[in-house]
Formats: sequence, structure tokens, C-alpha cells
Amino acid sequence: MANIPSSGRDGFSSKFGVIAAAAGSAVGLGNIWRFPYVAGENGGGAFLLLYVIFIALIGIPVMLSEFTIGRRAQANPFGAFLKLKNGKPFIVVGIMGIIAAFFILAFYSTVAGWTLEYIYKAIANAFEGKTTDELGTMFSDFHTGTFMPVFWQVIFMVLTAVIIFAGVKGGIEKMTKLLMPMLFLIIIVLCVGSVLLGENTDPDTGAKIGNSLDGLKFLFYPDFSKINAQAILAALGQAFFSLSIGMGVLITYGSYIQKDNNLSSTAVQVSIADTMVAILAGVAIFPAVFYFGYSPESGPGLVFKVLPGIFQQLPGGYIVGILFFVLLAIAALTSSISVLEVVVSAMVEELKMKRVPATIISTAAITLFGVLCTLAFGPLKGVVIAGKNIFDLLEFSASNILLPLGGLLIVIYLGWFLGKRNLHDELSNSGTIKVRLFQIFLFIVRFIAPIAILAVFLNGLGVFGFESVGG
Ligand code: TRP
Repeated sequence: MANIPSSGRDGFSSKFGVIAAAAGSAVGLGNIWRFPYVAGENGGGAFLLLYVIFIALIGIPVMLSEFTIGRRAQANPFGAFLKLKNGKPFIVVGIMGIIAAFFILAFYSTVAGWTLEYIYKAIANAFEGKTTDELGTMFSDFHTGTFMPVFWQVIFMVLTAVIIFAGVKGGIEKMTKLLMPMLFLIIIVLCVGSVLLGENTDPDTGAKIGNSLDGLKFLFYPDFSKINAQAILAALGQAFFSLSIGMGVLITYGSYIQKDNNLSSTAVQVSIADTMVAILAGVAIFPAVFYFGYSPESGPGLVFKVLPGIFQQLPGGYIVGILFFVLLAIAALTSSISVLEVVVSAMVEELKMKRVPATIISTAAITLFGVLCTLAFGPLKGVVIAGKNIFDLLEFSASNILLPLGGLLIVIYLGWFLGKRNLHDELSNSGTIKVRLFQIFLFIVRFIAPIAILAVFLNGLGVFGFESVGG
């Protein structure tokens, strides 16, 4: 039983399917591309520590809140707040969610497009024999171009749309069940390869270029002098982005979860899996960054410049390289479909559109937006708003502003407006399972999470006015 949720909506068919789909949304470019570069820009170990604290204290409660709201209402974020008790004003979460979906998919598809080009490069054996500098130039030449990055971005968006056509069970669930575990394995191979790189010396002069163990130290040794208000906000933004929370994706997914699923343990398991992939990605990347003598602050190109260097040094590196970029592209797809699903399900359920035209229209609109992000590294480099190019601007405002604000509203709704009895009923599957730590959860969503989000947020925007120096 439990194949069809009570409402007869499309839905996930098994417990593992739920976890795989939610983990498929969470695990993506955010873990493997974004985490290392944002951690690199914000000091490494201290950033990691903050990030993990935010995941536990804020991320898991927000994720559980989203699942709860979605499953209770059996609807997309708009429909959900319209249906649930005291929900009306909170449809602003839905509106912000749609805006965030546009922003996120725009820059996400840029980077996902880069991964498609790198699949091609890996197959063509383009990394072979290249020096560190040459690999850097190769990335620059490609991503500052016009036609190719846009071409791959469009392909990626078309792939996303095609999976969305297929619906939840056929499309989303099948894809993720098999591929997530494979991705996990290949990252572990890369971790081993990266850490074992050892000491790198210049063959001509004998001068030391770098040592892979310094990368581990960078990632795990917290140097608090690197932490300032922006770094704290960046850690919060990264936690939201990586867990796919704050814009209603997991409200929508929650509405597809069967009534007998234990939402609390699903939220904890998905968050742990997501965090592990991010940390492993860090272990795969930072030792290599230091070995090759790159700066950890190399920005969005970090993984594309660094990883091909590891593949060259690994036995079977040719195959590992292809597999890695294929799996990364698929991880990106299982995330991007979850973002697009929010837009499409809102159009279908609220505007009564058919699934196919809703998908085509939203995909086309988002892709146009996305092209601007892609060209922000090339022809549109000169377009700078508030000190950021278009790509950085969308990335910053989605991750560090829209998502935390959305999360803030979500926990406030759950803690103060849904009603304690409704909350307990949903978490306990109508009293059939015991909810552990209910009072603590309630205290977190009522007080800790909202205050923490607000404090980090205002502090990061400089509202408190005591910006620490350094970093
Ligand atoms: N979490 C995904 C990643 O780490 C990206 C993502 C998917 C996302 N859905 C989201 C981010 C919803 C924010 C909100 O790559």
C-alpha cells in the first residue's frame, strides 16, 4: 500500500524514494561546486564549523518545517498557505519562492552548462598533459566565451524540462535512486586521490609548490580571524542553498510524501547525507588546491580548474574524469528539477495550466534570465550592480537574502501560526508514531531559529554596524 497518497496526487512510492528525491534535490552543485569555493573565500575551517552549526540548528528545523507544511496541505507553497490555518499572509513565501527559483535556476544552469562542457572535454581527453596554468587558461577561455557556455546552458535547461514533463514518480524518483549512491562513491575515490597527492615541487628549480596535507588543514582547522559578518552570512546562505530550503521546494516535495513517512527522521537523514557530500567534496578539492598551488579563493571556477589536475594523476583517471562530470551533471539535474517543479506545480495547481505548457513557458523564461548570468563572465562582464556582476548578484540575493528570509517566515508560521496540535498531529502521523524531542523542536522553531536567522542576516547586511575587520 501507500503507493498513492490519500489525496490521489502524484507522489513518491517508497521511503527510500523519498529520501533519494529529497537528497537528490539537496545534493548538487551546491555541495561540489559552491561549498568549496565559498568556504575557500571565507577562510576554510572556521567557515565549515559555522556551516555545520547552522545546518543542525537552523537547517534541519527549516527542512522539517517545509516537509510538515507540504504534507499537511497536500499542495504547492501557494496552495499550502491558502489551505492551512492562519496561512494567508504567508503566501509571500510562495511569491519569494518563485523569484528565488528564477534567480537560482538562472545561475545554476550556467554552472551546470559548464559541467556539460567538461564532460565533453573529459571524453576528448582534453586534460591530458596540461600544466596547472594551462588548465586554468582552458577554463577561462571557455567560460568567458559566448556561444558554447550558452549552448550548454540551453541543453541543460531542456534536460531539466524533459524530466519535469515525466512527473514525480517517473521522472524525479527513478533518476535519483541509482545515481546518488554512485556519486558518493566517486567522490570518495577523488578524496583518496587528492589527499595522497603529497608534496609538489617544481621539477626545474626544486622549489616547493604545495602540499596536499595543507588543504586538509585549511578545511578542518578553524582560524577564527578569518570570520567576519559576511562570512557568517555566507555560511548561513550556503546552509540554506545546500539543503534546498527557504523557497518552498521541500514544501512541494513534502506534499508528495506518504502519510506514514517519519518526517523527522527523513529530514535528519537528508541533511546528514547532504552535509557529508559537501565535506567530502571539500576533502576532494582542498588538498589538490594546495598541491597545485592554487589560491583557495579562486572563485566559481575552482573545481573546474582543480579537479582535472587530480584526474591526470590517478590511475584510470580518464574514466574517473568522465564519470565524475557525468555524475555532477546528473546531481545538478536532480536539483534543478526540484527548483523548476516549484514553479510548474504552482502554475498547474494555482493557475490551472496543463503541465506541459507550464513547463515550456517557465523553462523558456528562466533560460532567458540564465543567459544573462552566463554572459556575465564574457560580453556582459562590464555590467556591475552593487559591486557584483549579474551572476554574483543573483547568487548572492537568492542564497543570502531570499532563502534565509523565506526560512524565517516558514519557521515563524510553523511555530506560531499552524497550531501546536496540528503540528504534533502531522509529525506523529496522526498519533501513530512517537515524536521525540517535540518540545525542543517547538522551542527551536519558535525562538532559536528565527532569532538566529535574523541576527545573522542583519549582521551580514551591516545593520548592527560593528563589522569586524580582517577576513
Ligand atoms: N541544494 C541544491 C544544491 O546544493 C540546489 C537547490 C535545489 C536549491 N533546490 C533548491 C537551492 C532550492 C535552494 C532552494 O545544489
